[in-house]
Amino acid sequence: MPETTPRGLTRLAFGGDYNPEQWPESVWHEDVRLMREAGVTMVSVGIFSWALLEPTPGAYDFGWLDRLLGLLHDNGVRVDLGTPTVAPPAWFYRTHPEALPVTAEGVRYEFGSRAAICHSNADYRAAAATITTRLAERYGDHPALAMWHVHNEYGVPVSACYCDSCAAHFRRWLETTYGTVDAVNDAWGTAFWGQRYADFGQINPPRLTPTVGNPAQALDYKRFADATMRENFVMERDILHRLSPGVPVTTNFMTALSQCDSVDYWAWGREVDIVTNDHYLITDGRRTHVNLAMAADLTRSVAGGAPWLLLEHSTSGVNWQPRNPAKAPGQMARNSLGHVARGSEGAMFFQWRQSRRGAEKFHSAMVPHGGTETRVWREVVELGSCLGSLAQIRGTRTEADVAMLWDWHSWWAQSLAWRPSEDHDARERADAFYETLYDRHLTVDFAHPEADLSSYPLVVVPALYLMTRAAGDNLRAYVENGGTLVVSYFSGIVDEHDAVHEGSCPGALRDVLGLTVEEFSPLLPGERVRVTGPDGSELGGDVWTEFVVPRGAETVWTYADGLTAGHPAVTRHRLGEGTAWYVSTRLGADGLDALLGRAIEDARIAPRTDLPRDVEVVRRTGASGSYLFAVNHTVTDAKVPLDTAGTELLTGERTAGRLPVPAGAVRVVRLDG
Ligand code: GLA
Ligand code: ZN
Repeated sequence: MPETTPRGLTRLAFGGDYNPEQWPESVWHEDVRLMREAGVTMVSVGIFSWALLEPTPGAYDFGWLDRLLGLLHDNGVRVDLGTPTVAPPAWFYRTHPEALPVTAEGVRYEFGSRAAICHSNADYRAAAATITTRLAERYGDHPALAMWHVHNEYGVPVSACYCDSCAAHFRRWLETTYGTVDAVNDAWGTAFWGQRYADFGQINPPRLTPTVGNPAQALDYKRFADATMRENFVMERDILHRLSPGVPVTTNFMTALSQCDSVDYWAWGREVDIVTNDHYLITDGRRTHVNLAMAADLTRSVAGGAPWLLLEHSTSGVNWQPRNPAKAPGQMARNSLGHVARGSEGAMFFQWRQSRRGAEKFHSAMVPHGGTETRVWREVVELGSCLGSLAQIRGTRTEADVAMLWDWHSWWAQSLAWRPSEDHDARERADAFYETLYDRHLTVDFAHPEADLSSYPLVVVPALYLMTRAAGDNLRAYVENGGTLVVSYFSGIVDEHDAVHEGSCPGALRDVLGLTVEEFSPLLPGERVRVTGPDGSELGGDVWTEFVVPRGAETVWTYADGLTAGHPAVTRHRLGEGTAWYVSTRLGADGLDALLGRAIEDARIAPRTDLPRDVEVVRRTGASGSYLFAVNHTVTDAKVPLDTAGTELLTGERTAGRLPVPAGAVRVVRLDG
């Protein structure tokens, strides 16, 4: 059995992507000296090195990598070794131009960047298998090897290819999935607009069409593209398992990045030995640490609650957003330790030494262009020392309070064209619900809609348009057995083929919510509605309204104006031992807080009310003890009340009663007992 933590690593992982091929070997010696100075424990190597390792077809040059791994090993740095299959060399494309992917419009990408890959292409697959085999044969039992890093960020920047090989592969995938072409016709509803297929050979990828194509076909193509990338991951992983037994294999995810929505990480999480994630701050004006917390919680959930590893984040600014601010002093440590609080077994970066050339030369690094006389370097060294004092938390697990349902397939379906309103954004609702729970100091687990939810007192469903019958039944049983459920509008509408569930909407949730929705009535840009409660309390909504007909549910808030005036806006349904809430408009932050406040009462959860906003408190617990992480994202010193005395691990101080957490600082207390 492969191990599930980096081999030979006895501390938290700290380091980054290391691309020494961009530098003369003399620099490598300075690199390892600085790695030692900073307390680096692991680096990721070779991710883009195919052209160097195999300069001409079949002729390998491993000398430099031999020397590099030896040097790292001599300096006590463990190695996360990449298979370079995300960056096939120029020579490969000269002989196999058809391995370059094609867009839905029929345009073939060119060589000269990275990740230009058709994952169905047989020549690519063979070449990827060969280079992986050579690497595994040579380094499979190298003493520096901690784990294997397959490929890089599957799914970005190309999420699907539409070439002829993919068309043939898609037909085979459909045949395996559906058996007969009539089953495909049924699932896709091809009676509509005369799209019926008489045999598999007539089916193509959802390429450019004059107007909207078949949505079920588009949804299946997302599934197919995801499965195809996973086939290639599994192919490489199995080679590594065979030739490098016991060494864990990973590939770096980007779980919560909305630009990377093409990968079903629930499925991928089951295939890797260690879940690893890359996370970058998206500077869109929102609180970046909330998105960070969400990404970390989602990654932990994809890992089934087990420890995972942050494989990339940035020491300061990135260079691929329209505007790339530097991080504030202390922000890097808050980011790193924020991930650790939520289950990461360390904090790794892109990248070790800032490039002088190429597309990423303005992206921050651990060793900036300015070298060691820089704030970033000083903070890197300090972070290394902090992580060094936290080794004992390895293996402990983050404790969550509530669950949020999350499903990439629903997200895919939701994003297809011709919905009631293009302003409805499922991801926006998930972020908004998450933020409300975060501000209530509740830690969130994410769960697949068909997962066992019985351990959670509260389950929220921000926007889950696609919901299987099994998921609906799961939620019904959850509520009947005493759970509290909160569902946001336009959920439970279609089945796995994007077909509207039979009968009134929301078909998968009618019974559990005790209502039907007769019509959707989205609002125009800028339009708002008022919503009033029986106690006179008022909420505001925009984007979406619905004509809800209670069928067992009680009306708690009612539309006060707009087309739906007088109709229920927020309902509550007692079912069995539990309660199901439904909200049919897009509430603002205050409204969501009021709604979730009521649900939290039903769920008998008592969130902390003794913490300031943006002072984040999370616990990790396990065999070695119980640890409280406090991250102060504010500019004001804070005090966090503690139930139990303990030892603060970053300062070594004993603490009891109230834990001081200075402005912008992080504290980690090992609680007594
Ligand atoms: C991704 C990639 C890295 C690098 C960083 C930059 O995460 O995996 O190779 O491009 O982005 O932020
Ligand atoms: Zn293709």
